[in-house]
Amino acid sequence: MSTVFDELLSGVRSFLAGFGEEVARSFAADVNWAMPGRELPPRGLPCLAHIPRAAAIAGNGARPLARLLADRGRDFHWGQTYTAADFGQKFIDNYGWLEVFGTRGHFENDAIAGGFLVLGPDIVYPDHHHIAEELYIPLTSGTDWRMGDGPYCERASGEVVHHASNVSHAMRTGAEPLLAFYLWRGGPLAARSTISGSAGPGG
Ligand SMILES: [Fe+2]
Repeated sequence: MSTVFDELLSGVRSFLAGFGEEVARSFAADVNWAMPGRELPPRGLPCLAHIPRAAAIAGNGARPLARLLADRGRDFHWGQTYTAADFGQKFIDNYGWLEVFGTRGHFENDAIAGGFLVLGPDIVYPDHHHIAEELYIPLTSGTDWRMGDGPYCERASGEVVHHASNVSHAMRTGAEPLLAFYLWRGGPLAARSTISGSAGPGG
């Protein structure tokens, strides 16, 4: 019997197959889609309140997946790596991720992790870095992204954002929430990022 978890995984697979960029194809080729499921209890977070709006503004190819997360988000096991001590309570109330596959996700994979990040409006995810190489594909437009010492620039839904190992990166949402798909490979897949930036006073 097909479950909502199977539906999520096949949705991710079809979504990723829509990207012809070399780096996206390279990451996708590293995913062995025959992954065993892992039993995880449903775990919601306050940031799920932003997903219906994210689904409403998601780009065309991203909408079915965003809609599934909006409708069934509370069936999944959401997590947070940071605490209020890192970036403040406002960040914690507006941030969360869902690991679809990986070392702790709904499907077991020790080689590559994939999932979704949610940030509410007007949130700064300060500069951070990690050993794993990372691919992000935002499902929503309107968020500013920064890599290394570069300036913030807005990335549209469906843009492929690649962070090499240990390159610092940051995101800053505006009036709309961010829903983004991520892939991690080549490092400890459940590692906490190293923070180099600050959310600033009260953030
Ligand atoms: Fe990252």
